[in-house]
Amino acid sequence: MQMLNIIEKKRDGLPLDADEIRFFIREYTAGAIPDYQAAALLMAITLNGMTRAETVQLTLAMAQSGDMLDLSDISEYAVDKHSSGGVGDKTTLIVLPLVASFGLPIAKMSGRGLGFGGGTVDKLESIRGFAVNLSESEFRRIARETGMVLAGQSKSLAPADGLLYALRDVTGTVPSQPLIASSIMSKKLAAGANGIVLDVKLGCGAFMKTLESARDLARVMVQIGVDAGRDMAALLSDMNQPLGVAVGNALEVAEAVETLQGGGPADLRAHCIEVAAHMLRLAGRGRRYVDLAENRELLAQQLDAGAGMQPLLRMMAAQGGDVTQIQDASRLPRAKLQEEFTARETGAVAAIYADKVGWAALALGAGRATKTDTIDHAVGIEVHVNVGDQVAAGDRLMTVHANDEGKLAAALTLLAEALAYSAEPVARLPLFHGVVDGADFTTSPATIV
Ligand code: URA
Repeated sequence: MQMLNIIEKKRDGLPLDADEIRFFIREYTAGAIPDYQAAALLMAITLNGMTRAETVQLTLAMAQSGDMLDLSDISEYAVDKHSSGGVGDKTTLIVLPLVASFGLPIAKMSGRGLGFGGGTVDKLESIRGFAVNLSESEFRRIARETGMVLAGQSKSLAPADGLLYALRDVTGTVPSQPLIASSIMSKKLAAGANGIVLDVKLGCGAFMKTLESARDLARVMVQIGVDAGRDMAALLSDMNQPLGVAVGNALEVAEAVETLQGGGPADLRAHCIEVAAHMLRLAGRGRRYVDLAENRELLAQQLDAGAGMQPLLRMMAAQGGDVTQIQDASRLPRAKLQEEFTARETGAVAAIYADKVGWAALALGAGRATKTDTIDHAVGIEVHVNVGDQVAAGDRLMTVHANDEGKLAAALTLLAEALAYSAEPVARLPLFHGVVDGADFTTSPATIV
């Protein structure tokens, strides 16, 4: 089999068969296919799409490119979550310890930043010493001993996704439904959770721009999970403005800790409570936590009591992280320069384009423009307003944290395009647009695992 023929077939809009997909994943993971050929195929997939059968085969090949974890010896039921990626999305850092505080084991594999969106693994690396590359045995040991583990893709768990993810980030091949679905679901299937809540974002700061495309992506992923015997739910959430205030790695860690201590921005807190309420519902398996409204109340109480802090600190310690940076956020990396960005006009904030804020954060160094770029964990942007707020010309809207004058200037230029104002009142944006519930799906004939 020749990689060139596979690229040409997809370029010409023809579906790939299971053998071709497995060949590509096996050989690329083994280092036998160069990045330029892999990138050409990714671009052909981005432009021409994949059938559902191709997406399922790609997901399975990627999941099986490493070990498939079975967590049944650690817990009768493990629950996991994953976001399709957004700007200021530090939900994982809050939701995981919060759910773990109910005594439910959490074992999650997360990703790095992609395009203008941040990634949990990059955020966690703001913390000195925190190890994200765990072997399967370390992943299992930490899950067993602390009840919570959070790792990046490793050589043993979904390694194909780790490689393809980094290549997609720098080749314009992130916003592709089959590539996103296979990337997320390969990690989820390999990490072994029984219940999976997906947070599928839509809007200008998400890879899916419309409700329709986000619902489609959610349905594809939920069906793959159901076919693989997992309990699934996908929330469709709004990403037209950044989530919370902080955008940038260490800034987001600090905001997550604040939220876990009962504070934090109201939109972020409500978002996390909703995702966690669905995780509790799946983990309760129809016997406990069946009522979402009650779950939300319980979760709000746990947040106010700071109950998620203990699981977070335990995991930090187990993965080698400096817990003093969690206990005292002033010890996290901090940028040298802080510049206020003020309102140009008086009126209502009509839009805060999350993608533009994300690109500005990337220009500061919070993300990668090429595969080998190193991230500056200290830099980022705090967005102090939400769509619908009234502002007066000269009011502080954002604070930009930078370590380099040139990058600061580039970010400010991008941010000048990130806001729109209106003389008329503007409605607030919703947090969620709906749920795709795995309970409404039946196993499809193309049963996969
Ligand atoms: N999150 C992932 O893990 N993969 C994607 O492709 C997008 C978001």
